[in-house]
Amino acid sequence: MTDATSFAEYVVIGNPIAHSKSPDIHTRFAADTAQDLRYGRLLAPLDGFVAAVQEFVAQGGKGANVTVPFKLEAYALATTLTTRAKAAGAVNTLKFDGGGMLGDNTDGIGLVTDIARNAGFDLEGKKILLLGAGGAARGVILPLLESHPAQLVIANRTPAKALELVQQFQPFAEQCALSACGFADVQQQFDLVINATSASLQADVPPIAPQVFGVATLAYDMMYGKQPTVFMQFAAAHGAQVRDGLGMLVEQAAESFFVWRGVRPRTDAVFVSLRTQLS
Ligand code: ATR
Repeated sequence: MTDATSFAEYVVIGNPIAHSKSPDIHTRFAADTAQDLRYGRLLAPLDGFVAAVQEFVAQGGKGANVTVPFKLEAYALATTLTTRAKAAGAVNTLKFDGGGMLGDNTDGIGLVTDIARNAGFDLEGKKILLLGAGGAARGVILPLLESHPAQLVIANRTPAKALELVQQFQPFAEQCALSACGFADVQQQFDLVINATSASLQADVPPIAPQVFGVATLAYDMMYGKQPTVFMQFAAAHGAQVRDGLGMLVEQAAESFFVWRGVRPRTDAVFVSLRTQLS
């Protein structure tokens, strides 16, 4: 159950969960916005996500962040889904209200806010290369398209999966040229290259040509860690500006906090503090 001595009405649910930074982030957000709330960790058994949520709600739980491996189960469990959760096909934020269960997904807006506001990179009219076609990639495509890039190329090791995403998101592409390909097909330079593959977890880099990077290119890895990821090292070695996913983590949390409480916390100090903790 939750690790707080008093009942935490907000939790992050996952398995494993001990490493999660969400309690630290949300406790700081609560202090920043003078909101009275407690936020804890909830370790759900791998075969017991639904029961864990039901028990939490019965005890008076108001909201939850959902992390690996339960985002698809949360999607199936929610009684109402936001447009961005439907597009992502996954839920990272649950809000329990009046017997209902709202499922939302704040990962994509977290990424876009970190890139547009924190990194000061205007996405409008830009050429974007998205590497990967799994859950992480799918979760960010709608907010990227809503930022009106000129071009979005989805490249994946298994090109057929990138093509499926293109077919799904074509109705949202409007003025954006949306296409799919394999890594070897990508030869042109991009303004923004986002690594949404899980390759960094295996200390691996998607095999893309170095010419996708220029000196004005922002290379963004959705992963983060103590050291720059191998993708960031590869991009930097070819002249690109680099950024990891720590800001995305903080911004997706801020959006979840807003969904629950209707108040937007400031994120800059939390980001700096997490960066310091990592180093
Ligand atoms: P996640 O939820 O993190 O997106 P996922 O849905 O399993 O996890 O997707 C993992 C993504 O990383 C996929 O795009 C996968 O490519 P495939 O669709 O071809 O499997 C990609 N990926 C994983 N390891 C990779 C590697 N070593 N090099 C390149 N791409 C990799």
